[in-house]
Amino acid sequence: MPLAVKAGLGSGQSFWRTKAGAGLPAATLTDGPHGVRAQADPADHAGFAESVPATCFPPAAAMAQTWDSALVERVAAAIGDEAGALGVDVVLGPGVNIKRDPRCGRNFEYFSEDPLLSGVLGSAWVRGVQSRGVGASVKHFAANNTETDRMRSDSRVEPRALREIYLRSFERVVTEAQPWTVMCSYNKINGVYASENRWLLSDVLRGEWGFAGAVISDWGAVGDRVAAVRAGLDLSMPGGDPTQDDDVVAAVESGALDPADLDDSARRVLELLARAADAQPGATVDLDAHHILARVAASRAVTLLKNDLGVLPLRRDARLAVIGTLAVCPRYQGGGSSRVNAARLDIPLDEIRARSTGEVVFTPGYDDDSPLDDALVAAAVADVAVVFLGLPDGEDAEGADRTHIDLPADQLDVLRAVTAVQPRTVAVLFHGGVVRLEEVDRLAAAVVDGALLGQGVGAAIADVLFGVVNPSGRLAETVPLRLADAPSFLNFPGEHCRVLYGEGVFVGYRGYDARAVEVTYPFGHGLSYTTFCYDEAQVHLDGDTVVVEVMVTNTGARDGREVVQLYAAKHGSVISRAPRELRGFAVVDIPAGGTRCAVIRVARREFAYWDDRVDDWVVEGGAYTLSVGASSRDIRVTTVVRLDGDLPVLEVTAMSTIAEALAHPDVGPRLMTMLQQYAPAGVEDGPAGTDALRMIASIPLGRLRLFGVSPDLLADLLRP
Ligand code: BGC
Repeated sequence: MPLAVKAGLGSGQSFWRTKAGAGLPAATLTDGPHGVRAQADPADHAGFAESVPATCFPPAAAMAQTWDSALVERVAAAIGDEAGALGVDVVLGPGVNIKRDPRCGRNFEYFSEDPLLSGVLGSAWVRGVQSRGVGASVKHFAANNTETDRMRSDSRVEPRALREIYLRSFERVVTEAQPWTVMCSYNKINGVYASENRWLLSDVLRGEWGFAGAVISDWGAVGDRVAAVRAGLDLSMPGGDPTQDDDVVAAVESGALDPADLDDSARRVLELLARAADAQPGATVDLDAHHILARVAASRAVTLLKNDLGVLPLRRDARLAVIGTLAVCPRYQGGGSSRVNAARLDIPLDEIRARSTGEVVFTPGYDDDSPLDDALVAAAVADVAVVFLGLPDGEDAEGADRTHIDLPADQLDVLRAVTAVQPRTVAVLFHGGVVRLEEVDRLAAAVVDGALLGQGVGAAIADVLFGVVNPSGRLAETVPLRLADAPSFLNFPGEHCRVLYGEGVFVGYRGYDARAVEVTYPFGHGLSYTTFCYDEAQVHLDGDTVVVEVMVTNTGARDGREVVQLYAAKHGSVISRAPRELRGFAVVDIPAGGTRCAVIRVARREFAYWDDRVDDWVVEGGAYTLSVGASSRDIRVTTVVRLDGDLPVLEVTAMSTIAEALAHPDVGPRLMTMLQQYAPAGVEDGPAGTDALRMIASIPLGRLRLFGVSPDLLADLLRP
């Protein structure tokens, strides 16, 4: 293949298409992730034109609240079908970046603040789409956790946080689900653009994780194509600048770029085209069936945060005051490249009316033209007031972060006034990023979190309000009391294009729990119209897998679904750890009065931490506390498992401390004998000896010369 053709394969033909090559047709890539955004006009070079109608499923923030990988896989399979029928070869999703800070504008497109939950659901999404003969593109790789200045921003992350938190979700998706492609992000990671980052794209992604597919760039992320090819980037999208291809040709000709790097990239693009050409996606789609699935997914995502006074579920004949424009114009997705042209839309007010046999009075409430008095009169005479609150369109959007997490002040005024006349008030929430709920929680008798529910929003909310669906959603992100409590608060969105990930691994609930900071609703929280009781937890090892089994009983009168969460802790650890880290979970359907066994299997490797002294995963040996519960702060039962460790034995050098040398299997005993020779008689045993040892523990061995230890003795100590 001529050099110029090879170089050309690495950039897009048009906004959504690759070039054709080696007799293979071009491939079409399209957004994602919560529905297909296929542009009707192929000549739309900026990708701004309206897309063809498609099913708008709940965005990731809501899907994550189901904690249900089987459901995510079903939804993604439906997206794959719609993509295939539209001639799309690769859907650009899922987004598995970690919600590091509540303000990130794209949090609605991401699953969770926790890497396990993000990775498990991301894998399910990839499996679902790819089961239909359409490829996925897991994005945005990596450490893309702010929208502010996203094309220049530099995420400065310590290795442990990078591995355990920010890369972990990608690692799981790549190793478990083998996506056809990975999309690199716009930002830099520790000083190097993702698109030029050979360590990230070649050493880690391919070398360590075995990724065999193509790496594509985020749209417009490549500034230096030569550096990108050298790093392992295969396809620069949308590729509107042919001089970048010329640069690659010139670099190979001048010897600045290894031709093998270009060959590898071109081969991987051709493999992608071949995969797309071989796939046989279905040609037709049943949008009615997909609408029903969108409703099911939405209703499973709704999360009941509070339910006092038995206000929910509503009686069918209850007299209702429905308040707030969002009841007729619901927010159901965010803004930017993921915005789907929804094929349908269920309106909450219509769906409430359809299920009600009583009087339903609607007032816009916080609309300028609507007097608040109307809402208050309706609320006062109703059995229950249902107030719809939410973030305005534009607050959850790509390309910008929020500066606060408050609901609009006029909406809170309405809630205050309504709750003053009607204690039985339900607040229904629509938002992508987390919002401050301290006051809503205080005022409303019940709080129903609708996140962003996609086109089935209306039916889902109405079904939960009337108890047609027993809510089973659980938060995938902590709701803090105040924004300032967020672990990343002081380091977001950074300054002068640098974002210091100063909180390290203490992201989300890890950080709130480690500092014992009170929150409004903890990670994993969500209520049901029934109650669950947990029996003792049983634990055993099955080879290298920890198996935890808990019998859970539905003690109420309704069938329900519990999300059983397993958190692990290691007391007295050699590293600094969160008091609880999610290590597994199980979604169990339990009929009223019934008991089911929740089985959670956790590979031993999941207990590893990243040890930056040896650049590897290490399992610390010893006892781990396993806490099983209904949220990170609602632990019902605990048990303990002992794991064999593989802590590295570090070489002892002149700069190793006495404590480190004593812990070494060979050097330790020799050193102890030597120390005993130096100690005055009687000091080595008893408290004086312990005190002396503690005092000298941090002295590097080499400094012992200053305390009179001979160089020969030291050399003898350090001999291998
Ligand atoms: C976004 C990606 C998206 C791409 C194509 C970019 O601006 O960051 O998530 O897939 O555009 O629309």
